[in-house]
Amino acid sequence: MINFEFHTPTKIFFGKDTHKQIGEIISNYGFKKILLHYGGGSIKKTGLYDQVLESLNRNKIEFIELGGVEPNPKVGLVRKGAQICKEEKVDMVLAVGGGSVIDSSKVIAIAALSDHDPWEFSSKKETPAKALPVGAILTLSASGSEMSSSAVLTNEDGEFKRGFNSDFNRPLFSILNPELTYSVDKFQTGCGIVDIMMHTLERYFTKTRDVDLTDQIAEGLLRSVIRAGEIAINNPEDYEARATLMWAGSLSHNDLTGAGRDYFMTCHQLEHEISGIYDSVAHGAGLSIIFPAWAKYIYKHNVEKFCQYAVRVWNIQMNFENPEETALKGIIATENYFKSIDMPVRLSELNITDEKFEEMAEKCTFFGNRTLPDYIPLGKKEIIEIFELCR
Ligand code: NZQ
Ligand code: ZN
Repeated sequence: MINFEFHTPTKIFFGKDTHKQIGEIISNYGFKKILLHYGGGSIKKTGLYDQVLESLNRNKIEFIELGGVEPNPKVGLVRKGAQICKEEKVDMVLAVGGGSVIDSSKVIAIAALSDHDPWEFSSKKETPAKALPVGAILTLSASGSEMSSSAVLTNEDGEFKRGFNSDFNRPLFSILNPELTYSVDKFQTGCGIVDIMMHTLERYFTKTRDVDLTDQIAEGLLRSVIRAGEIAINNPEDYEARATLMWAGSLSHNDLTGAGRDYFMTCHQLEHEISGIYDSVAHGAGLSIIFPAWAKYIYKHNVEKFCQYAVRVWNIQMNFENPEETALKGIIATENYFKSIDMPVRLSELNITDEKFEEMAEKCTFFGNRTLPDYIPLGKKEIIEIFELCR
């Protein structure tokens, strides 16, 4: 186990009806005027919007609304939100939605207290020095943004999707009511399951040895998500399954499953190149295609860990004569699971050809200025080879 820092300051309010306390929670923190930020309208359809307004009004919290966050959130709207916060002198930003809304809120909160353009933070030219507090009411179990230190934005000018980490990205509080995810459709539920699994898998496949406790936490989380995912896909209103997914989503990306080890996040970096260019691709769907390709490309460089994954997570019998066979069976089991929840596992299923592989690899290597650290360094050639396996 290597040295690590672990800091998860976000206060969680978990369970049924918790969102109805939003006005009281904000009032208890002493905030009086907020930016209410949300997406394309799901919260109006489900009635959540009315419930939030009722609680804010009852507690005399003044609010300014900014809706319209798109999946793969854009920096343009963040600029607008930051401007509103400056002009209206708001105390905090309240995100009501999924990862896109929360990420948009996080960067608004940073840009609201800065003279820099928000993209300067996303492109890592600037480091945040302060931020307005962000609170979230989560409506989709997936990104883990409700507890994470990262925020991911797309710059519509150039089709770049970039994330950055900062403690200023950690929400002050997040309200997690699994019932709010009953209305999430099968496709987005599937995307969420893949994203949650991937946040843990990206930390699990590490070069660091002797991290048994963190490994076992990760394996337990994965087994729970696999089971709960199947149930939630078939019965969207199963409270326990939705609750398991919601809590697993937060724990997968608050770094609990990364404690004591270095990790690469390769699949995320490759995926951001796909959904950065192809805006209609949901993050989880992109990951569902990338993971099997990446794993098949890389597993020979750490057969032992891939065997451990196959045996402990998928209950596959270890073949001591042929460990590579065991490792590969674990990868195929994951791919089959993704298929079973109707996730795509090849780019052709999304009608994406090899036309932009070169451009995606260029962008991913920062135009030849870096290789991705992994079990072997991944340069442009290797990245294109992985994209080829996604076809
Ligand atoms: O916009 P609305 O109308 O709310 O609809 C959304 C959206 O169309 C809908 N939805 C959300 N909650 C719903 C609902 N529909 C019905 N009922 C509900 N209760 O779902 C669609 C997708 O929402 P989105 O927020 O885009 O999904 P997700 O939570 O998966 O977030 C994806 C974004 O998060 C980033 C991704 O790259 C992507 O941009 N990520 C952020 C991370 C972070 N900050 O830590 C880590 C992740 O790895 C990820 O990169
Ligand atoms: Zn993710």
